[in-house]
This record gives sequence, structure tokens and C-alpha cells, in this order.
Amino acid sequence: MTTTTPTTRPAIRFSERVTAMQESPTLAVLNRATARIAEGVDVVDFGAGEPDFGTPSSIAAAGKRAIDEGLTKYTNASGLKSLREAIARRYNRRYGTSLGAEHVIAGNGGKQELFNLALALVRPGDEVIIPSPYWVSFPDQVSFAGGTPVFAPADPAEGFRPRLQDIEAVATSRTRGVILNSPCNPTGAVIRESELARIVEWCVARDAFLVFDETYELFVYGGHEHASAMRWFEQYPETIAVVNSMSKTFAMTGWRLGYAVAHPDIVTALGKIQSHSTSNPSTITQMAALAALDGANEDVQRMYDAYRDRRAWLVPAINGIPGICCTDPDGAFYIFPDVSAYFGKRGITDSQSVASYLLDEARVAVVPGGAFGADDYIRISYATSMERIREGVARMDAALRKL
Ligand SMILES: Cc1ncc(COP(=O)(O)O)c(C=O)c1O
Repeated sequence: MTTTTPTTRPAIRFSERVTAMQESPTLAVLNRATARIAEGVDVVDFGAGEPDFGTPSSIAAAGKRAIDEGLTKYTNASGLKSLREAIARRYNRRYGTSLGAEHVIAGNGGKQELFNLALALVRPGDEVIIPSPYWVSFPDQVSFAGGTPVFAPADPAEGFRPRLQDIEAVATSRTRGVILNSPCNPTGAVIRESELARIVEWCVARDAFLVFDETYELFVYGGHEHASAMRWFEQYPETIAVVNSMSKTFAMTGWRLGYAVAHPDIVTALGKIQSHSTSNPSTITQMAALAALDGANEDVQRMYDAYRDRRAWLVPAINGIPGICCTDPDGAFYIFPDVSAYFGKRGITDSQSVASYLLDEARVAVVPGGAFGADDYIRISYATSMERIREGVARMDAALRKL
């Protein structure tokens, strides 16, 4: 039998699901910054979304110990029972809840649990309300699950804090849920407890779920307190799912461990998805996470103090640059200044062109606000040393004064 070589190559046919998924074009400037850093250019990197600190040594040692002790096999797909119990205990201590392992699932980052929650709870045609500016992955996760993200613009004059009135304004009969993130990436906004209480009650009354992402829970400054939806969890376990992560609190981004606390039936659903996709988060990481939850308080405090001091210096310094206007965010490790005063100058039209100008003219990398649904802004991360922050602000000041 003779075979003939086809003259055309077979086409790759992608699913609608993945074709609809966006790789944010506004993040292109960050990729360009990374390339310049790799070429050896001295770029001040304000783009990072992760702590500049190394993982505390006691946590890293627990990971090494796990390898030495041969704890390198699969665990339950939803995570070790001992880890899920430790996470439950941590919440019980803080909120007086009586959670057990059945309320907790551990996965490969908070991102995985947020993704799985969308897959588990969103049906085709459902609308999910997301306050904007928003963390980049929320809308795509909802769309991937077949739902429609609906944005509820937060008021900059209110420090971008989510409010019920903004959510109510975009609700329809198809509203299936709300995703809140506090402290917020990118704005640093921290929701007030009284407002969160109203949103919780509204979700319960509308039979909508509330996914509450508190990845940055620890980073709240200026005498404010983190308000967590966990306060209402035992009253409304069918409504509330809380997502949290080891990544930022314990400087463990690369270890990949996050978790969700939810109704046991929801946890079972998330576990099913996990069992057919990634299986368990790394066993070594789970052992390190156990050590982190049991201790590391001094290291966490040291990191917190550094972020607090950097923020205290950075906000007034940025506001000292003519044309930049920045509110004083209560949390996370980002500031989100308005740079629209530069639009119309030297070909600058949007947040992406401001970011490109800063990269080329000041050798400073920032993330354009367009990536978060707010094109008048840029995101500046202060998860970098005070020395680099001072250097970066001086460079920005010099470059922006030329406009
Ligand atoms: C708001 C928010 N949620 C969730 C995550 C996910 O973090 P991880 O998957 O590392 O736990 C991030 C990471 O940047 C984030 O900023």
C-alpha cells in the first residue's frame, strides 16, 4: 500500500472554551519588562504580584524534611486530613466557628479553588457580579464555566471599596453569584464589615452564592481591620465560600497551596473536579504548609512591618509627582494611582501607553490598569525593597515631568 503525503497540514481545532479565553494584551508590557530584565537592563520592577521575601526558613525546612522522610507520594486529592484540620482550626480560633476537615479543600493555589468554584457553581447563562477593578482571572474563570461576568464599577471616591448599591445596580434575574476580593488586587481596597454584612444578606435573599477571596487578608494597614465573610459562614454555609492562600501571607507563591472553606457538599464537588484534574497539591508543599500554619508568626510580622513602612513612604511620594493622583489604599501590597492626566501627551492614550512610556523612559515596570478593567490607572506593587521603591519613584518623577 502506498501513502501520499498530504499537501496541507491538518488544522488544529480549538474548543470554543479556550478560544474565548483572553490572554490579556495589556500584560504585554510586563512581558517586555521581563525580557529587558533578562537582557540585563536595570529595570525597577513594580509589576510583581508576589512577595519579594523568601519563604521563611522554618517553612522551607519542613518541606525539606518531608522529602527526607519520603513523604513524596500521592495524598487524598483534596489534601491531607491533617492539613485541612489545621486550616479549619485556624479559622475556628479566629472566628469561633466549629469547622472540620469536611469544610476545607486544599489545592494548587487559591487560583485553583476559585476556578473550581466557578466550574462547580456556574451554569450556562448565569451572571456573576464582579466589582471592578477586579483581579484578572475572575472574569475568565466565570466565562470558562459558561457564565457571564457582569462588572459592578466601584467608586474611586470611595477608595474602590465594594458597596451593595453598586452590585444591586447591575443585578438581573440571571444573577447567580457575586465574587468579592478584599483586600483587593489591584486597588488595595478593604471592604467595611457593615457593607459586607449587607452584601451577605442580599446574596442570601437572592439565593446567590458569595465567593469571598481573602488571599491578602493579612495585609491591612492604618488601623483598619480585615472583614471576612467567614463571620457569617456558619449562618449561611449554602451561600458563602471563602478562598484563601499560603502564597502571599507566608511568601510561598511557588510552593502552590491555596484552599477553600465551604459547605461540605460544595467541598465534595470541588474534590471531584480536583480528583479528575490535578489530584492533590504537592505532598511536600502540604507538609510545609502545616508547619507554616503552626508557627512562622514572627516571619509574617516582619514582612507585614516592611509592607506597612513601604506603603507609608510610597503613597505621599507618588502623590508628589504632578499629574498622579493616588488614594490611600487600606490593604494588599499595591497602590492604584490615576494617571489619566497624562493622556493626550506625547502619544499617550491609555494605561498601556503610560506603562510603555515608563518602561522605555524611566526603566520602571508597572501593570496597566486596563488589565483590571480600569484604564485610567496603573498598578504599582510595593513588594520590592525600600531602596528600589525610592529609586523607581525618582525615575518615574523625572520621566513624567517631561510630559
Ligand atoms: C486576588 C487574588 N486571588 C487569588 C490569587 C491566587 O493566588 P495563588 O493561586 O497563588 O494562591 C491571587 C494571586 O495573585 C490574587 O491576587
